[in-house]
Amino acid sequence: MLRPPDFLETARLIARRPCPADAEAVFSAYASDPAATKFLSWTPYRDLAALREFLGQRAAAWESEGGHYAYLLCEKGSNQPIGSIGCIIDQWKVTVGYVLGRAYWGRGYTTEALIALQTWALAQPSIFRVWAFCDVENPASARVMEKAGMVREGILKRWHVCPTIGPEARDCLVYAKVK
Ligand SMILES: CC(C)(COP(=O)(O)OP(=O)(O)OC[C@H]1O[C@@H](n2cnc3c(N)ncnc32)[C@H](O)[C@@H]1OP(=O)(O)O)[C@@H](O)C(=O)NCCC(=O)NCCS
Repeated sequence: MLRPPDFLETARLIARRPCPADAEAVFSAYASDPAATKFLSWTPYRDLAALREFLGQRAAAWESEGGHYAYLLCEKGSNQPIGSIGCIIDQWKVTVGYVLGRAYWGRGYTTEALIALQTWALAQPSIFRVWAFCDVENPASARVMEKAGMVREGILKRWHVCPTIGPEARDCLVYAKVK
């Protein structure tokens, strides 16, 4: 089964595998922040134990055949996570998702990480499509995908529930880069 590398390196960032001991840093960087998690499929964490368990599950997923691989993003020279990028590999398609701590927005970090993951994926002979979606009201995320060279393909109506916003499924923009 195809698996991404344990580390991705960009000009300013390292993406590495998560572990439960990252819980405190992840909690304060983004996981407890309603703004950073607004468009995600989970609500902000309120206690460290639950986040530790979640990170344990994400770490274990690297060892399973499920195709779900989450990285934590750290600035080079630091092992402190400031965000996350991950992918799901489904045959020839790779779905990507990401989040970054609010204190680090607007520096091009997410674009940098997305390009690294996308470059790895499209270099694999078996992968033909890297894609992601974002909420129609999340222009920063749409811009990240555009800057990474992804092309807007359309709108998935009622595609995703953002529980922080409410229980109703919301419309999403679809972006992809194919070869
Ligand atoms: C979306 C997110 C990942 C962007 O991360 P980032 O590292 O700040 O992104 P970058 O700096 O690489 O690029 C952001 C771009 O969006 C633009 N942008 C930011 N807010 C914007 C807004 N309200 N409207 C339009 N563009 C906006 C920035 O100007 C920048 O574009 P530019 O370089 O052309 O100026 C970050 O805001 C985040 O984690 N948000 C919360 C979680 C989330 O929404 N995840 C994505 C789920 S699909």
